[in-house]
Amino acid sequence: MKKVLVTGGIGFIGSHTCVELLSQNYEVIVIDNLSNSQIWIKDKIEEISGKNITFYSNDVCDRNALIHIFETEKNIDSIIHFAAYKAVGESVEFPLKYYKNNIDSLLNLIEIAEKFQCKKMVFSSSCTVYGIPDSLPVSEQTPIKPANSPYGATKQMAETILNDVCRTGSLRSVLLRYFNPVGAHPSAKIGELPIGIPNNLVPFITQTAAGIRKSLSIYGGDYDTADGTAIRDYIHVVDLAKAHVKAIELLTNETEFQIETINVGTGNGYSVLEAVKAFESSTGVKLNYQIVERRAGDVPAVFADTTYANKRLNWKCEFGINEMMLHAWNWQKNLK
Ligand code: UD1
Repeated sequence: MKKVLVTGGIGFIGSHTCVELLSQNYEVIVIDNLSNSQIWIKDKIEEISGKNITFYSNDVCDRNALIHIFETEKNIDSIIHFAAYKAVGESVEFPLKYYKNNIDSLLNLIEIAEKFQCKKMVFSSSCTVYGIPDSLPVSEQTPIKPANSPYGATKQMAETILNDVCRTGSLRSVLLRYFNPVGAHPSAKIGELPIGIPNNLVPFITQTAAGIRKSLSIYGGDYDTADGTAIRDYIHVVDLAKAHVKAIELLTNETEFQIETINVGTGNGYSVLEAVKAFESSTGVKLNYQIVERRAGDVPAVFADTTYANKRLNWKCEFGINEMMLHAWNWQKNLK
């Protein structure tokens, strides 16, 4: 059984990826400082998969902790690096916190991986690197734009660092640029756990439907789109998790490349209003909402060209928008 070190493995995308790795018979080692996740998710991962994970409650910025893990586990085959801060607004307020955490952790991980001759890394990047794209759908050749938040800048910097390191031959990497991960595990045992008021659309929708929030504010009704609301490529977190397992397989089976960058979305763009309607029709629950001013920094429309991901990862999405909404809702109901 190959050992995969999953940083941030108790978080939203990390936890779903652990489940998929376990189902493919990988041995899963998690390092997570629980800064934006809760330890009981570990039990749920194990409950869903009927297998155990090895858990280290440490920060990836802690060099000694990383060394201890690599020494203890001995033969870590590959790394999936999720652990990072991800709130766009917060990153504007506290840029240093973002640069320090997101970059320090990556540098540590690369250094220690090299020391222990672990040569494969899958990295969580984001479609935010494309900014406002010149054309749609967004392919891997779409030009990178200046980041419009420190969060986005950390993703661009991390990509640059990995490109430079991989060029030397000491590491091989797959950079996955996620579009908008949503939904929850179909078992409703794991899902997104936002702290405080959610920034992202789908947790805000489910909390509004659950009566935790009074009303959803739809940011902007005057975009140049069919119904005036902004368009995103929402992808089910289980489909996204599976793409990570495929990325590990790609690194294992094809040894001639140093680094690959792959967009991971569904290829379908939905407006905010369409997402709301999909929630209402799939769950039968009516939502309170009103259209308000645009949110600063929001992109009018972005969705992926999935041609490369489908071919290179030998992967495609299985879940549609209705399942994304239904699973997110089932998870929300379970939380009450
Ligand atoms: C952004 C980034 C993404 C990053 C994510 C982290 C881009 C293109 N995407 O996603 O890379 O990982 O933040 O948080 O930069 N909306 C509402 N009401 C709400 C919340 C959201 O109308 O209460 C709308 C937004 O205006 C947007 C859509 O819903 O049009 C999706 O928003 P959100 O879920 O926050 O994700 P992004 O901003 O697309």
